[in-house]
Amino acid sequence: MEPELSVVRCSFECQGAQVLEIFNHAILTSTALYDYSPRSLEQIETWFAAKAQGEWPIIGLESSDGRLQAFGSYGSFRNFPAYKYTVEHSVYVAEAFRGKGLGHSILQLLIEQAQRDDYHAMIGAIDSNNEASCRLHETLGFELVGTLPQVGFKFGNWLDLALYQLTLSTPISPVDG
Ligand SMILES: CC(C)(COP(=O)(O)OP(=O)(O)OC[C@H]1O[C@@H](n2cnc3c(N)ncnc32)[C@H](O)[C@@H]1OP(=O)(O)O)[C@@H](O)C(=O)NCCC(=O)NCCS
Repeated sequence: MEPELSVVRCSFECQGAQVLEIFNHAILTSTALYDYSPRSLEQIETWFAAKAQGEWPIIGLESSDGRLQAFGSYGSFRNFPAYKYTVEHSVYVAEAFRGKGLGHSILQLLIEQAQRDDYHAMIGAIDSNNEASCRLHETLGFELVGTLPQVGFKFGNWLDLALYQLTLSTPISPVDG
């Protein structure tokens, strides 16, 4: 990570428009997101509000001039109580800054946060053609635990979803309920 970059906690007010731009670029140019249409600023505001409500982090890397170069977040894996120690995360790097280790830095920060938050499993649901993301997860110790064949359809093709998992040593004393 370049020394002039700062780690920031993203808010809709400060980074919302840049998060929208990064998401929408990925939606329109790749299968990283299984959306067909660009999101609206209102949808991003709702996304930020849901993260705040769930006390989920949105961690960014920003240059000194306020340019958001990368961000990542996690949230609920499946919305049933017994999944309470599992999170599903995502990482996005603005196109101009890819391949410089920023995705690695964001994912590392998310792992550290998940440990501090006492989670036990992190799941990345990745389009199986997304070589950069698969490689990023493998490098940080995630295991490919399964692939769901042909569960998506975008750009005229069936898409396979690869599930990558990192199991953490936290929490020390998990409890029901
Ligand atoms: C996937 C993504 C987050 C990776 O972030 P990045 O900053 O470009 O990647 P990094 O520079 O941190 O590299 C991480 C690892 O992936 C590898 N990698 C990076 N780009 C790659 C590519 N295009 N093809 C293959 N491997 C690649 C790197 O070599 C590195 O592995 P190593 O440490 O073993 O050498 C980024 O490319 C991105 O935002 N893509 C679009 C959105 C997306 O796909 N998000 C993930 C959704 S699940």
